Formats: sequence, structure tokens, C-alpha cells
Amino acid sequence: MPNPSVPGPRSVPSAWWADAVVYQIYPRSFADGNGDGMGDLRGVLHRLPYLEELGVDAIWLSPFYKSPQADGGYDVADYRQVDPLFGTLADFDAMLQEAHRRGLKVIVDLVPNHTSDEHIWFQEALAAGPGSPERERYIFRDGKDDVPGSGDGRLAPNNWKSIFGGPAWSRLTEVDGSPGQWYLHLFDTRQPDLNWENPEVHEEMRSVLRFWLDRGADGFRVDVAHGLVKEAGLPDWDGAASMVEGTTGPHRESHLPGDAPHAHTDAEEPHRAVSPMYPPSPFFDQDGVHAIYRDWNRVLAEYGGDRMMVAEAWVEPAERLARYVRPDEMQQAFNFDFLLAGWDAERMAEAISASLAAAASVGSPCTWVLSNHDTVRHSTRFGLKDPTTFPKGIGAGDEQPDAALGLARARAATLVALALPGSAYLYQGEELGLPEHTTLPASARQDPTFFRTRGAEIGRDGCRVPLPWAEGEPGFGFSSGHSGQASEPWLPQPDSFGPLAADQQEGEEGSTLELYRDAIAFRSAHHLGQGTVRWTEEHAPDSGLLAFRNGDAIVVSNLGFASAPVPEGYSVALSSGPGPADDRAAMREVPVDCTVYLLPD
Ligand code: NOJ
Repeated sequence: MPNPSVPGPRSVPSAWWADAVVYQIYPRSFADGNGDGMGDLRGVLHRLPYLEELGVDAIWLSPFYKSPQADGGYDVADYRQVDPLFGTLADFDAMLQEAHRRGLKVIVDLVPNHTSDEHIWFQEALAAGPGSPERERYIFRDGKDDVPGSGDGRLAPNNWKSIFGGPAWSRLTEVDGSPGQWYLHLFDTRQPDLNWENPEVHEEMRSVLRFWLDRGADGFRVDVAHGLVKEAGLPDWDGAASMVEGTTGPHRESHLPGDAPHAHTDAEEPHRAVSPMYPPSPFFDQDGVHAIYRDWNRVLAEYGGDRMMVAEAWVEPAERLARYVRPDEMQQAFNFDFLLAGWDAERMAEAISASLAAAASVGSPCTWVLSNHDTVRHSTRFGLKDPTTFPKGIGAGDEQPDAALGLARARAATLVALALPGSAYLYQGEELGLPEHTTLPASARQDPTFFRTRGAEIGRDGCRVPLPWAEGEPGFGFSSGHSGQASEPWLPQPDSFGPLAADQQEGEEGSTLELYRDAIAFRSAHHLGQGTVRWTEEHAPDSGLLAFRNGDAIVVSNLGFASAPVPEGYSVALSSGPGPADDRAAMREVPVDCTVYLLPD
């Protein structure tokens, strides 16, 4: 007998973000406004009408700040400047003003775990030498001796590995040319970790928040929100570090015995799950991070308009994630359990129930996300032999997806995500059904993970390919906001992008773009974002069927192997299948790999 209902938040916040559909813009690849082959803020401005028509409530922009681009801008050299690649502060202001005029909120990315090695602080730290206050802004340590007692400091201070591959420590050459101290970088060597034990770092990041709040930003997506605080003493750790901690190997248990987390008494919180594969790491999900978010919550509260923060925190289980969205911390956290469930009814149902319950226990609405700039696109993942796998990039030598199957399932999964209460995050291009570029040549790759793992990890370039706006134009119209001759897009686009270009889907019945528009409109008209999930009697995840009621609608998603009947007294209002709308009203079966929205007759 299915669980009849899943608890909703005690009281759903009425703030705009509580049920918002947020569209993620990866600025390098969204739209090019100046013809240099690289997306930019003018390109975003030019395409705002498209986003308004799509029906989203907000945009989140990945970093556009001054940066040497060692990690696509997640290596920030100046938190208060726009990189010339993307435009100017005036371009940002113009884009934000126009977004607001169109009723779209604007979320910017905050990268507080590390800076770029070109940040003035890091440059000052290098110049100032060991023991200086400048070095105290980062995590510098003397090395361990290779020859005991020699003081040679040749070994890294501990055994931590970078999430991008290789060691997490690099050794400096001091200004006098002698071998020097080591500094910690959980990511690339060019992304030194900040020292959050230092009050100056807190002060600076509060000031950065205020800088963007003063300019009118509606919120922040907080990068590596689980990583800022490191365990005292920086102890060795033998686990494998990954951006997606704990996702390889068998299906993870996502339930933890014990009480749900409550107010902000970090000391008495339940212990996180200790998986044999990934014991708790000394650099992720330390209890100390929460004081930082309580502090930032107070900064945001100084401003009107329901400003918000959304945590990028790859932590498990759901109860552990819920701690980031307690009433006095962040407003939202990305629900990666849902993303990682893959195309599998039991895993998806479990992720939905567990996420809703955990979020409800702290009075926060859930979020739903299927793709982003760090993951293989869901239209490609779901076309693999095992649609629950989570590859770290796909290359020409790897299993290639069944594109049509993947797209059918992706459309179906999106209809599930958009029908769930809370807020949904879309990644640019998924509304066009874009696949991952799975055959990018090595020469085109830019992701540092590819280089730091010597190609063992293909990396994330395949989901970051510039969008196709117009099939017949050079670069599929990526630079079409520009009048002159445009450069090639910064990453090559696959031929398969042509027929998926926005101009080919606009107004085309059954296209993925029109499906997204219809689903977002349905979600809004039926207030699904503010509703609750009640599993119906058709719900049978063990035979591949998800079925739930939300408001007056019933959602049936068929992840099984045989078609399922449409419940009596209901008709199909929207289907993820490709058929024309006229057929939908007559549909009495939900085909395999399809989701339908039903309304009473
Ligand atoms: C998470 C971001 O989403 C990813 O793109 C980046 O490489 C790392 N954090 C490091 O900032």
C-alpha cells in the first residue's frame, strides 16, 4: 500500500523563491552579445524576452566576475568587478534592471570557499611571507619532513586530494627563491582555499554580499557551501574526494535514524551517515559552516524584497542537507538526491519522499533539479544503458547514449520535477532538449578536471556548449545579437544542436521548448509549487509507476516496462510524449517513459 501522503512544510513561506522556477545561465554559453564567440551579459539582456516567454520566475547567473577563467570563472580575482569577457558593471546593471522590469528575479553566484590565485589577497600573501597576516587569509602550512628532523618540508601537510584530481596542496617558491610553504586548494591549484577561521575573511565576504545586494541582486547561489570550514588540525583522510561526494558504487541509503534536525544548536545534531565508501570528510559539511550562514541570513534581512541564498552542498542524507535551510540560515539548497536518483521509479520516489520530509522538518520548501553546469545533461544520462549512472563526463570512447530514449525520459522527468511543490531549477538548454556533447575533441576541452586527472575524468565541458538559437546561422545563432562578423563559439557545437535550435522549436507543437512552456504554465495555473504530494493508489514504484496528486491535478510517470491506464474520471491535460495535443484528451494509457498531468473530467 503506498504511503498516502508526504508531509509538506509546516507553513509554506510566501516569499517569491518558495515556489519559483529558476533558470540557470552559464554566461559563457548562453548568448554572445559582442560577437567574440563567448557569451556575455549583453547576450543575456538580449534574450530576456525568451526567458519571460518560457515563464520562469528568476535567473541564476554562474560567475561573471573578473577571473583568469582557470575554472570557468569559479576562480574569482575580484568579487566586485565584471570580467571584460562578459562586459562591464554597467552591463550588469542594465541587464538586472531589464530583468526586473520583466518581473524576473536575479540570483548571482557567490564563491566563498576559494579565490583565484590572481586575487590581490593571494598575491599579497605570496609577497608577505610565512607568519604574516596576509598568509592568514588562506590556509598556508609548512610541509612535513621527508627526512625526519631535517626541516626539509618536502611533504604536503596532509594527504588530502583535490576534488579535481591530484594533491590538494601545492608548494610555493618563496620570493627569495627558497622552497617554501604549502597552500591548500580543494579544487584547482589556481583556486586557493580561504581561511574561514580569520575574521577578516568573514568581513570581506559580508561586504561582497552587500555590494551585490546594493546593486539589486535578489539572491545568491553559494558555491561549495559545505566546504568553507575545515576540521581543526586538518587531519589526514583516506576517503575519495569528489564534487559529488558519495555517488559512486551501490545505491546509497538516504535515511538516517534519529531525530530530525531542529533549531540552531549545532552541537546536538544527529551524526551524519557514515558510508563505508565515504566516511565524513574533514573538509565537507563541518558543523562550523552553519554559523556563517546565520550571519549572512542577518545581512540579507537588512534588505527588503525577500532576498535569498541557495546552497550548493553535496551532502547526504537529506536530513543533513536540511540543516542548511533552517529558518535562520539559507532559504534553499539544491536537492541533489533527486538529481542523483536517475530514471528509476523506486529511487525517484524515495528521493521525493525523503527530501520533502527533511525539508518539512525545518519548515523549508524543497528544490528540484535535474541538470546543471557540473553534471552530464539528464537527456543524455537517461539514455545510457543504466539510466541511474552519473558519469563524470562522456567522451567519444565511452558508451554513447540512445539520444531519442534519453530525451523522452528527460522530458518525462522534467514534468515530474515541475509538478512537485517547492522550487524548480532548470539548466540552460534543457528546455531545448539539448544533449551532452559526448564527442568533444581533447583539444577543445577546458575543464581543469580533464587536465588534473590526465583525461581519466572527461570533465564538464560537454554540458557547457554554447546554445543554438537559430539553425541556419553560423554557430547556430549563438552570436546573433551581434551585427558584424562573429567568431566561432568558444566550444564547438555538435551537429545535433541544429534541429534543436530555439527557432526550430518555437511554436512547434510537441517540441521540447513548447512542452517546457506548457508545463511551467500548468504549474503556475494549478499552483503546484505551493501544493503537497499525496501518492495515489496507482503509485507503484516497484513496478515503475509514480503517481501523485498535487492540488486538483494527478501526475502519473511511467518509468516501467508496460503502459499504465489513465485513472477513471481523469483526462490527460499535458503529456511529455511527442504526440499532438488533440490526441492527448483521448489518451487512456500512459506509455512507457512518459509523464502525464491529469485533470478531473
Ligand atoms: C562548484 C561549481 O558548480 C563548479 O563548477 C566549480 O568547479 C566548483 N564548485 C569549484 O568552485
